[in-house]
Amino acid sequence: MRPDRTRHAANIAVRALRVPASWTHRQAAREDLSAIVEIYNATIPSRLVTADLEPVSIESRVAWFEQHEPGFRPLWVSSHEERIAGWLSFSTFYGRPAYDKTAELSVYIDEAFRNRGLGSYFLQQAIAHAPAIGVDRLIGFVFGHNRPSLDLFAKFGFARWGELPGVTLLDDVERDVIILGRQVLP
Ligand SMILES: CC(C)(COP(=O)(O)OP(=O)(O)OC[C@H]1O[C@@H](n2cnc3c(N)ncnc32)[C@H](O)[C@@H]1OP(=O)(O)O)[C@@H](O)C(=O)NCCC(=O)NCCS
Repeated sequence: MRPDRTRHAANIAVRALRVPASWTHRQAAREDLSAIVEIYNATIPSRLVTADLEPVSIESRVAWFEQHEPGFRPLWVSSHEERIAGWLSFSTFYGRPAYDKTAELSVYIDEAFRNRGLGSYFLQQAIAHAPAIGVDRLIGFVFGHNRPSLDLFAKFGFARWGELPGVTLLDDVERDVIILGRQVLP
């Protein structure tokens, strides 16, 4: 069941922003990092998305940003009227070369632009692009209580490949991490 009030509020905000009918994306530039971090930090208080408990600084994400070389592990942004609406990253899974054919996806949409198909657009594009960067397995690590994200990934054919029960403690509540995955055919 969707939180209708959230969706309703988001819809009003987005209508005011005149969201485009179709989305586009590009590789992120260094100037986008502050917006990328801002969108990420906005999700922290919800305790639904990330195990970070306090906002992260832009400086602390520079190394992460620089790991996202477009031909290997892209970092994409989508913008509307010069405002970054969301981002998607391919990240290296586990860090050893034999895992290079597997990449971890993260997708974060600014609250004002949610429920307008941008998360879907990003996943669709990521699945289509994976073979071009030598990736044939995509995975996502999602909290077991993050319904919007579990539903989004399920919609694009991701299955439950694993479960890490109670591995995080968020405001004194133990939470599970679900490992979602799907194969990608060229
Ligand atoms: C999860 C998230 C990326 C979805 O992005 P979005 O642009 O709002 O998604 P879309 O509009 O494309 O919706 C796609 C699907 O996501 C799911 N979804 C989106 N919002 C949902 C909600 N509130 N409740 C349940 N499912 C939801 C649905 O399956 C939906 O498909 P449908 O519209 O056919 O029902 C977005 O909510 C977000 O940025 N959340 C915070 C970050 C996060 O959790 N990232 C995932 C971990 S990496």
